[in-house]
Amino acid sequence: MAAKCHSCQGIFILPVLFCLWLEPVRGISIQINPQYPVLGQSVTLSVSGITGNIRFFYWFKGSNIEADNQILGYFPGSSPPQTPGKQYFSRASGLPGGSLVISDLEITDRGNYTVNVQTDQSAQQASVNLTVYEYVTKPVVKSNTSPVKENDTVTLTCETANADRILWGRRRSSLPSNASLSKDNRTVTFPSIKRSDTGEYYCEAVNPVSKSSSDDITLTVNYGPDSLSVTGSLQVQEGSTLSLECSTASVPLPTYLWRHNGTELSSKQGKLTINQATPEHAGIYTCTASNSVTGITTTTDVHVTVSEQPTGTTPEALSTGTVIGIVAAAIVILALVIASIYLFVVHKARKKSVSNPNPQSKSSASVENGNPATTEGEPELQYSSINFGQRQAPKMQPAEENIIYSELRLS
Ligand SMILES: *[C@@H]1O[C@H](CO)[C@@H](O)[C@H](O)[C@H]1NC(C)=O
Ligand SMILES: *[C@@H]1O[C@H](CO)[C@@H](O)[C@H](O)[C@H]1NC(C)=O
Ligand SMILES: *[C@@H]1O[C@H](CO)[C@@H](O)[C@H](O)[C@H]1NC(C)=O
Repeated sequence: MAAKCHSCQGIFILPVLFCLWLEPVRGISIQINPQYPVLGQSVTLSVSGITGNIRFFYWFKGSNIEADNQILGYFPGSSPPQTPGKQYFSRASGLPGGSLVISDLEITDRGNYTVNVQTDQSAQQASVNLTVYEYVTKPVVKSNTSPVKENDTVTLTCETANADRILWGRRRSSLPSNASLSKDNRTVTFPSIKRSDTGEYYCEAVNPVSKSSSDDITLTVNYGPDSLSVTGSLQVQEGSTLSLECSTASVPLPTYLWRHNGTELSSKQGKLTINQATPEHAGIYTCTASNSVTGITTTTDVHVTVSEQPTGTTPEALSTGTVIGIVAAAIVILALVIASIYLFVVHKARKKSVSNPNPQSKSSASVENGNPATTEGEPELQYSSINFGQRQAPKMQPAEENIIYSELRLS
């Protein structure tokens, strides 16, 4: 009978205990302070909304209030008030108001925490999920292939840790529209990369407590050579310069090879120059451009003709015209010189006639100026050079000539 009574008592007591401990009362809540706790720093799981006076409270790791999960118990009236539980660790401590402080946070501190507060009125409970944040590491962009050739499928990966979010960017431009991002943004893929996709790319790692950008990665898309063309003199005169230029679109710059009628030439430049072309220089010129990265080689050729220097009677016939021209020019110049000398002599003669006034003389400026002494004082060379310089001087009106004359004197 006694045993029966005992079991009856037990059955009766358990629900009472459950009522005291598990009755969830809405109203208390936990704030994490700071909102984004960082590894190595401390956090307060701050309890608010408690109604009544606290008799004691327990903190548990996890969502269940089992003895095995208990971190600590706190009895404000006792000394010491805090009693360690099975999950106790020295970095944890309770505060009189019901809060829990965890210092020197570790990654393993992540997870759910539950508080159970017993007041003089009721038991109240709340849980919170604690996340411990770490600063993002500086991201590094890696390419799956190097060197990158046009039409390659290229994947860039942003290598970083602790990021919640990854962003991609391209300096002075936007990401190519056909580039696709993976779901977590860690990779960006160019299905068939184009030469226009050449540029500087970077990624940025972000989480609530930090942000970091990678160094730029220069993505160089190698291509070509294509659009090979040869420009220059395709018809040259014997003795003149034969100049050809081979041009192409290519990254990196290609190596060039020239051939003349199939024979390799020494020039390794895009430009081929032959001074003093001879008829032997005529023929087919072939330019070959090779890109060491793409492995592409392109060839194009042009036909060059060299016209021979004319020989025999033709030069005489040709030069007759030239000779006539030279002779004619010489005659004209001679005539001008003779005329100038004549004018000079005439002028001097007139000047001398000033000392013996000659009423017939009308046009001479020096006479009208009426100051023979001054005129005589002027350097004759200057005077004459002025007159020769302006062959029309004798026909000039006296007034104009006076102006020129006075200018001369001033200088
Ligand atoms: C943490 O709590 C949430 C609800 O608050 C629950 O869904 C989850 O299962 C809990 N996790 C653990 C590990 O207890
Ligand atoms: C806590 O929340 C984070 C997201 O903030 C989640 O990834 C994690 O699984 C949660 N942990 C638990 C124990 O619920
Ligand atoms: C890429 O593809 C285009 C079109 O098919 C072609 O013209 C070009 O030569 C290719 N580039 C390389 C480097 O193979």
